[in-house]
Amino acid sequence: MNVFITGMTGGVGGLLTRKLLSRGVNVGGLVRRDDKRSELSADIALSRGELDWLILRPSLLLDEPGSGTVSLGPAEFHGQIAREDVAETLAELLHEPRIGRRILELDTGSTPIPDAVRANVRER
Ligand SMILES: NC(=O)c1ccc[n+]([C@@H]2O[C@H](COP(=O)([O-])OP(=O)(O)OC[C@H]3O[C@@H](n4cnc5c(N)ncnc54)[C@H](OP(=O)(O)O)[C@@H]3O)[C@@H](O)[C@H]2O)c1
Repeated sequence: MNVFITGMTGGVGGLLTRKLLSRGVNVGGLVRRDDKRSELSADIALSRGELDWLILRPSLLLDEPGSGTVSLGPAEFHGQIAREDVAETLAELLHEPRIGRRILELDTGSTPIPDAVRANVRER
């Protein structure tokens, strides 16, 4: 698997880069110069394009160790969540090809991340 991360210099992006490398994924990325496009515009453009896509919307991000458990679904409460749990969820989602063309929200929860990802699989 090859993954290109546009925000690999950021908090979640850096953690995700390390998690994917440890899974043997080839990771590349963009180091931004002065691009001021809004993230919402990027989401809209992505979801209308030809590429397979998945948008993950986490609640307030914290720099603390992850718990390994989350709440993941189309509509979640917006509490707070460790960046490490966000990165781990993204890594797990990237390895679940049956989830695509969806917007999912992520919050702290009690479901182990692999189970939370599998629970969102629906046959396309
Ligand atoms: N903070 C929160 O509580 C919170 C809550 C929900 C969602 N989010 C979202 O979760 C994501 C990760 O958060 P984070 O705190 O880990 O982010 P972060 O540390 O601020 O890192 C963001 C990364 O995205 C890059 N980036 C920003 N705008 C870009 C653009 N227009 N084009 C290309 N690259 C761009 C940054 O590049 P540079 O290094 O060049 O700036 C950086 O590598 C962000 O999208 C954030 O908006 C955050």
